[in-house]
Amino acid sequence: MVGFFNIFEACRHCESLEHLVYASSSSVYGSNKKVPYSTDDKVDNPVSLYAATKKSNELMAHAYSKLYNIPSTGLRFFTVYGPAGRPDMAYFGFTNKLVKGETIKIFNYGNCKRDFTYVDDIVEGIVRVMKKAPDKKNGEDRLPIPPYAVYNIGNQNPENLQDFVQILSEELIRAKILPEDYDFEAHKELVPMQSDDVPVTYADTSALERDFGYKPRTSLRDGLRNFAEWYAEFYK
Ligand SMILES: NC(=O)c1ccc[n+]([C@@H]2O[C@H](COP(=O)([O-])OP(=O)(O)OC[C@H]3O[C@@H](n4cnc5c(N)ncnc54)[C@H](O)[C@@H]3O)[C@@H](O)[C@H]2O)c1
Repeated sequence: MVGFFNIFEACRHCESLEHLVYASSSSVYGSNKKVPYSTDDKVDNPVSLYAATKKSNELMAHAYSKLYNIPSTGLRFFTVYGPAGRPDMAYFGFTNKLVKGETIKIFNYGNCKRDFTYVDDIVEGIVRVMKKAPDKKNGEDRLPIPPYAVYNIGNQNPENLQDFVQILSEELIRAKILPEDYDFEAHKELVPMQSDDVPVTYADTSALERDFGYKPRTSLRDGLRNFAEWYAEFYK
C-alpha cells in the first residue's frame, strides 16, 4: 500500500507519464455470489485485508487519474501460476510437500474452484494493455474525465481444486519429480474452508477481449506441464 501510494505521488510530478499499469486482484470480488465476476460488479465486501488493500489501490488510482489526468489501468489477476512462480502459492507449496512425502491440505473439502491463469498469458495481457492507455477526454462540464480503466485477466474457466491437484500430480510424475507409483490419494487431506478464503473465482474477460482482442487460453494441463518441467530442472 505504501509503495503504491509513493508510485502515484511520484507520477503526478512527471507530466510525460503515458500510462500507469498496476496489479490488482480477483480478491476484490470477495464472496461475490454472481459468476463470472465482472468489472461492473460491486466490490465493496472484501473478505481479507489483502483484498481491501487491492481495492484501495484501485480507488487511489481513480483519484489520481481524476486529479492529475494520469492514465491508469488496473489489472485484476486471477490466481497466477507457472514456472518460477511464488513458492508461497498453493500449487508450489503442494509440490514442495509432495516431493517431501508430506500430506497436502485441500480447503473447503475440495470444493473450491479457481480461475487459474498461466503466467505467460498474464504477461501477454499486460504488454497489450500497456500499449493502449485509456483516452484522455473532457466531459460535458469540460473537465477531464478520469482516464481510468480496470480489467479482469483470468482464464474464464474455473477449475475444481481436486482436478487441479490431480493434474499437478500427474505432471509431477511425468516430469519424474514424483515416482510412477506415487500414492497421491494417501497424501491428500480434505479440510474445512479458511475464513479469509472464497469458494470460487471466475473471471468475465469480455471487456479485455473487446478492447484488446485477447483472452488467456493456456490449458491447465499445458501450464502445469511447463511448471513441472521447470521445477525438475530448477531443483535437480
Ligand atoms: N500471483 C498471483 O496469483 C496474483 C494474483 C492477483 C494479484 N497479484 C498481484 O500481482 C502483483 C505481483 O504479484 P506476484 O505474485 O508476482 O508477487 P511476487 O512476490 O512474486 O512479486 C512481487 C515483486 O515486487 C517486488 N517488491 C515488493 N515490494 C517492493 C517495493 N517496495 N519496491 C519495489 N519492488 C517491490 C518484490 O521484490 C517482487 O519481485 C502483486 O501486486 C500481487 O498482489 C498476484
